This record gives sequence, structure tokens and C-alpha cells, in this order.
Amino acid sequence: MKTIVPPIKSQGIKTKLVPWIMNIAPKVNGRWIEPFLGTGVVAFNAQYKQSILNDTNPHIINFYKDIQNGIITSSLIRQYLQKEGKLLSEAANDGYEHYLKVRTRFNSGEFSPYDFIFLSRSGFNGMMRFGSKGNWNIPFCKKPNRFAQAYITKIVNQVSAVSKIIQSEPNWIFYNKSFAEIIPLADENDIIYCDPPYYGRSVDYYNGWTEKDEELLFEMLSKTKAKFILSTWHHNNWRENEMINKYWNRFNILTKDHFYHNGGNIENRKPIVEALVCNFQPIEKDNIIFQEKHIIKQLEIQFSQEANQLASYK
Ligand SMILES: C[S@@+](CC[C@H](N)C(=O)[O-])C[C@H]1O[C@@H](n2cnc3c(N)ncnc32)[C@H](O)[C@@H]1O
Repeated sequence: MKTIVPPIKSQGIKTKLVPWIMNIAPKVNGRWIEPFLGTGVVAFNAQYKQSILNDTNPHIINFYKDIQNGIITSSLIRQYLQKEGKLLSEAANDGYEHYLKVRTRFNSGEFSPYDFIFLSRSGFNGMMRFGSKGNWNIPFCKKPNRFAQAYITKIVNQVSAVSKIIQSEPNWIFYNKSFAEIIPLADENDIIYCDPPYYGRSVDYYNGWTEKDEELLFEMLSKTKAKFILSTWHHNNWRENEMINKYWNRFNILTKDHFYHNGGNIENRKPIVEALVCNFQPIEKDNIIFQEKHIIKQLEIQFSQEANQLASYK
């Protein structure tokens, strides 16, 4: 199946991992619940009739709610990008002056979802990052002809594709809250996909993530009656994600090698081993070996705990 690509870009986007995630995600009768929506690429490919989608970033949620309500349409996006694209191509300093104008307009409090997509598609390296005051702070991609006809058509088609997938309320509900208010909404018929900021790897206004957050997420996912899949990083060439041993090892873990992220930080551009953590038995051919090793390790821990208990009875 071809992956549906959303109109918004970000460095943590899971487009390349969608087939893997969908391969292990069991089909449930209930809802697709995604507390850390980001660009929405996973939700759009899960294609559930009922979904709860959430992000602390209000710009993402407003953008998709406006598509849901018909305020943003593919033809309005085309008109907007044609107009702003022309201004960009004619602006001084190789387009930079117009990029700055849109960025200042957005950051001054207008927060137009149209300007949001302009910035997302003409910022450096498809990155999304907000400064300490919640201001868009990605530099210009330095391409004055960024919004050429073919590129506009590509974005318009992406808006059109997601607008066909997004169901109207109450079937698809968007929230702009913390994940802690979303996970308790799930019941045993639902599936939760969590893709939080990666511990130790991301920092920006909407992406602060501390060990306390990871611990709270762990507690909530441990209690949920729904099925869950969590995306996280396992290790890179320098270090392991200490959260795996601390929390997630109690669940099933699958890994995938050498996935490259985009990003400003050099370490984040090096290959990383991605992990999927889940509270059900995943059936996935590629990683059976890892999974078996993991189960053996769990059994070894269990046996040694039992042996210690037996020894203490003597
Ligand atoms: C790694 S990104 C998700 C990427 C997404 N899966 C994709 O493919 O585009 C993490 C998202 O979590 C959001 N976020 C950060 N802290 C959050 C919190 N406490 N509650 C809910 N969302 C949060 C961020 O705004 C960001 O969009």
C-alpha cells in the first residue's frame, strides 16, 4: 500500500516507518488514538473511521481542524500558495525578505494556518521548531522559486488526500491537550499509538520532554486496557536509550536498524535504531530473532528472581 504523505513536514516525521507500524498494529473494533499527532502521517495511514488525535502544538491541531471544517480546502490552498509563491520569487535578498514577512506575520499572533503551511514548506530542511515564546524559528530554505507549479500541485494533492480521510466530528476528534488527558479516554476496544518527543534528543517549545514525562507515560500505558504501540529510539552508535531498560523492557520490543532523522543537531542526523514497544504479542517476520532474544532475556530474569526467592526460603 502506498503511504499517504501529509502536507505538513517535521524532522520527526514517521513516513518511512509507517509500513512497519501498520504491519504490527492489530486491527481493533474501536478507535485509533494518537496523543502525539505531529504531522499526522501515521493516523492518516491507519485510516480508522473513529479517531482521537491530539498534540500540544496548537498550529498542527488548528490546521487539521480547519481541513475538517472545510475552512481549508485544496483550491484555497492553491490560490494562497500561488499568491505567496509569486511574492516570494520576486522578493529582495533571494526571497528571504518575503519569508521573513510571513514569519513575522505568523509570530505576531496571527497564526494563520495558511502561513503555517507556507513556513512548513519553505523552511530549512522541512523542519518544524518553535522558540521559547512559541515563535516559529526555522530559517528560510533559500529557494526563492520554492513554490513552483509542480510543488504547489504536490501540496494541494496532499491536502486533498487528507481531507478525504479526516472524518467529521464526532468520529474524528482533535484535541490540543497534554497526552495525560488523552490516554485515559481509551478503552479495551481501542488502539493507542504514541510517538512522544524522544528522550534526550529533542528540545523545542512544544517538544520539551523530561524523564518525568516518560515516567508518567509509562504509568499511563501500563494501566491502559487498550492495545498500545510506542515509538522510541533504542540506541545509536554512541549510547543506549536508558529509558528502555528503566521502563519499556517490561513490554515487547521490536527494533529497526539505521533510520536517519533530519535535524539541526549533528547527533540526530546519525543513524539510529528505532524501537516499537507494545503490550501485545506482535507478529512481524523481520524481527522475530530480536523478539525471541528479548523473550529469552525476560525468562532469564524471571528464573533468576524465582531462584533468589527459593534460596531465601531455605
Ligand atoms: C515526534 S513528534 C510526533 C511525530 C509524528 N508521529 C509524525 O510522524 O509526524 C511528537 C509530537 O508530540 C507533541 N508533544 C510534545 N509534548 C507533548 C505532550 N506533553 N502532550 C501531547 N503532545 C506533545 C509535539 O508537539 C510533537 O508534535
